[in-house]
Amino acid sequence: MPLPYTAKQLQAAVHTGFSVALKCSGGSNASYIPYLASVDPNLIAVTIVTVDGNTFAAGDSQYQFAIESISKVFTLALVMDQVGSPALRAKVGANPTGMPFNSVMALELAKGKPMSPLVNAGAISTASLVSGKTPDERWQKILATQSAFAGRDLVLSSEINQSEQTTNFHNRAIAWLLYSAGTCYSDPIEALDIYTRQCSTLISTTDLAVMGATLANKGKNPITGKQVIGAENVRHILAEMMMEGLYTASGDFAYTVGLPGKSGVGGGILAVAPGKLAIAGFSPPLDANGNSVRGQAAVKSIAEELKLNLFEA
Ligand code: DON
Repeated sequence: MPLPYTAKQLQAAVHTGFSVALKCSGGSNASYIPYLASVDPNLIAVTIVTVDGNTFAAGDSQYQFAIESISKVFTLALVMDQVGSPALRAKVGANPTGMPFNSVMALELAKGKPMSPLVNAGAISTASLVSGKTPDERWQKILATQSAFAGRDLVLSSEINQSEQTTNFHNRAIAWLLYSAGTCYSDPIEALDIYTRQCSTLISTTDLAVMGATLANKGKNPITGKQVIGAENVRHILAEMMMEGLYTASGDFAYTVGLPGKSGVGGGILAVAPGKLAIAGFSPPLDANGNSVRGQAAVKSIAEELKLNLFEA
């Protein structure tokens, strides 16, 4: 079925979303990862990619930023393909935690079960399940999955990786807690190393929108035509995003935007309208929940203008 929008309408929605976002202020760059604190807070970009492979962009849409937590979606997709959704759900869980993305309390209350693959604990546990003979082979599979979603070879930023690997003390504690509870399925330091690398690749909003459009298009990349993951897993991934994609603001995002989303502390944000398109935003200043202030505003504006809310018949 053709999309119910003209190219003009899509470009106009991107421009409106961009101007609405520009008028928003507040928030601040993540500071617990030194690299992120140094990124220009005035950078701002929005891109839409449709399931028929058309791109509409505004702002710094070629600027490459750290993928951070948005990477959790793609490692989840890889592992779901490798072990199947029932096994992954049993091992990691599929429920919102209602707590911050790096909460140790959430992990303790659930007796060491991460609950969601989209919080740090669940993402480290998910990374520990990636198959491969060596840590490097497992890392290469993650990078290849991110690249297949983006439709180009993504690269690890050694600067970002270095910045994170040398400061990720809180995540080290989480990795050991998982291991002691039996929910880290490889050596915890190896799992954390891979997880930290997966957060340190560089993407633009245009890459991110292609990644999201692949999910919107039943796992088939609309630009390359490649089936990246099994179509049967997409609904589970989107459900996880709806439940936990914006952490403690996931409920607010479902209530106001009504789309599965995912944010990262690098300032990126993704929302997926199944069967239609994906919206990617980028702006470094974050709110108290760890979500881009301007990115959320742009996504909300575009979703409203194009009437994308899944809960509206
Ligand atoms: O592990 C971390 O804390 C970061 N590498 C990623 C966290 C993140 O992006 C949470 N998102 N809002």
